[in-house]
Amino acid sequence: MERFRSVGLGSVLLVYLMSGASALLHPSSPKSVCKSCDPQPANCKSNQCIVNCDVSKVCPNPDDVCAAVWWRENGLVTVRTNCHNPTQPLNGVRMDDYNSSDCVLEVRNVNNPNVRQCTCTGHECNERMLVNKPDDNSELVIMPVSEGGFRLRQLCRFCDIESTDCNATGVCKSPCNLTSICEKPSEVCVSVWRRNKVSATIETVCHDPAFPFRGQYLTDYNNTVCQMKRLKGMEDDFYICSCNQEECNDQLYFTNVSAPSCPGCIGKTFPPVLLVSVVPLLIAAVLLLSTFYCYHLFRQQNLKASRTKGIDIETCAIIMSDDDRSDSSSANANSLNHNTELLPIQLDVIVGKGRFAEVHRAKLKQGATDESFQMVAVKMFPYEEYASWKTEWEIFSDAELRHENVLQFLTAEDRKAERRYWLITAYHERGNLQEFLTQHVIGWDELCQLGASLARGVAHLHSDRTTCGRPKVPIVHRDIKSANVLVKSDLSCCLCDFGLSLRLDNSMSPEELANSGQVGTARYMAPEVLESRMDLENIESFKQADVYSMSLVLWEITSRCSANGDVREYEPPFGKLKDHLCVESMKDDVIRDRLRPEIAASWANHVGIQLLSSTIEECWDHDPEARLTAQCVVERFGEISNAVILSIISDTKSTQDSGNDEK
Ligand code: ADE
Repeated sequence: MERFRSVGLGSVLLVYLMSGASALLHPSSPKSVCKSCDPQPANCKSNQCIVNCDVSKVCPNPDDVCAAVWWRENGLVTVRTNCHNPTQPLNGVRMDDYNSSDCVLEVRNVNNPNVRQCTCTGHECNERMLVNKPDDNSELVIMPVSEGGFRLRQLCRFCDIESTDCNATGVCKSPCNLTSICEKPSEVCVSVWRRNKVSATIETVCHDPAFPFRGQYLTDYNNTVCQMKRLKGMEDDFYICSCNQEECNDQLYFTNVSAPSCPGCIGKTFPPVLLVSVVPLLIAAVLLLSTFYCYHLFRQQNLKASRTKGIDIETCAIIMSDDDRSDSSSANANSLNHNTELLPIQLDVIVGKGRFAEVHRAKLKQGATDESFQMVAVKMFPYEEYASWKTEWEIFSDAELRHENVLQFLTAEDRKAERRYWLITAYHERGNLQEFLTQHVIGWDELCQLGASLARGVAHLHSDRTTCGRPKVPIVHRDIKSANVLVKSDLSCCLCDFGLSLRLDNSMSPEELANSGQVGTARYMAPEVLESRMDLENIESFKQADVYSMSLVLWEITSRCSANGDVREYEPPFGKLKDHLCVESMKDDVIRDRLRPEIAASWANHVGIQLLSSTIEECWDHDPEARLTAQCVVERFGEISNAVILSIISDTKSTQDSGNDEK
């Protein structure tokens, strides 16, 4: 079944189409010259960005214009420049500004305000871009950071102290009407609610979490929402939260349940000056402190013991000692919502069931009324599945994992009362890719959108750099299948279910790797995984096994594309869905008979599908080393769509020519 082998055929056709065909079609029209660089930090000042891109390209197609795509992710700004065919969508958006001589970066998709893009006509007109101010009129100020990127300063509510009638239950809106750009890029948004005998107030500020705030270190500053945590031991009733999204300190999430006492916090939050100035209380304070000290020692011992057992005992809401901070890896940067501070979530229907957990659609309430809510997904694990929850939570907690093609994580919760652990994520109403393909036939554009975005998600997971160039720990998924891919509203994919994933940091010993075992779903397992013959000392082999599974998903997507004129009913790779395929029967098919899903003859009817078939075959090669990388598949998608565009132009031209000849 190894059909259309060789990169040769694809590349030759591609080169022919890109150079020969277009030159023949447009012998004299001048081609644009555009800046053409992979994603890189842009030099942005005020409302102008300049790319330091030293690659100028003569565009392959005479109709091409120049384009730039600007995005910000975790506060970093990146720009990609290239040629663009204006008859095609750019990132799924049809551009209407290509006649402009300036490239004016604007948000083109309201659902994605962090992406701006522009097209323009003129020699290297995408070298300098104008940035329209965001709709909220906030000033766009971009600061350089160490790796040459630009971190946007956060926008936060910033009113210092104002009185409030919020009574620390449910969700409160801050009384502050001022949004400020924080002074430093490292600052996050913070809110403090406090009540003394006279009044209640809310304080809204920007603050750098590297420094204590009111004597405390903030540990929840990676959160996207401001989840209020109660501090005991203050003279006033005192709640605090921090978060790292624009104006996230405006909506404050409280709970009705009062927090347990947290003696570990008390000593650190008492201003020492009180101890000396209130002389009559001194003796009582000494007694109290010694009691606290004993308790603290006891607690530290418990903490150490439970950590060595691999269990995190509940730590003080937002206070950590310096020691705790220094040994918390980035994987633990995201805080857990403890039982006392649960998000106001109303569960709805079940939308998925997995090996260890079930997923519910749910409403995250946004305001005092029931009408205002955000749809989220809640993955619920029974207490017995603590290890799966913890693995997935740790994978998600790495801030560098964030990517548009990876399911967006919101927070994790320990729902003690129900004896369940939760992971709260974005909700995607189109459901998983398998359901989607069962119900929909797709066209060529959708095939590219689904397939390329899947490859981008896997490439990001495997990469040791973020899109912005920051270092990141490569991750392998180990259970890639169409049921573990969600379809977003723009028909791009995002990967989900990281319960079997592994972080490939250098700290993993060969023994740990060896013990990681044969995991995944038999139907999608690479031959070397089925045989338990992976080269466990080489982290690349885990990625190669993921690429094999991804190729089967790409095949599933392609099998539902009508562009070649022939679509069959959805079937998963290797036969009917209801058939339970065990490892042994898969070994017979995949290893002994070297069987792969069928590539129908009709797939050769369409240039793009034909080229994609060759790519898929290179990804399911029996030899793991011979497989393409996920990043290479991303690039192939770019080349294949160009080839398709050129073949359409070429077909149109020959139809016109034959029409002229007949006249
Ligand atoms: N099924 C599993 N996870 C889901 C999610 N986040 N959104 C929609 N359906 C899902």
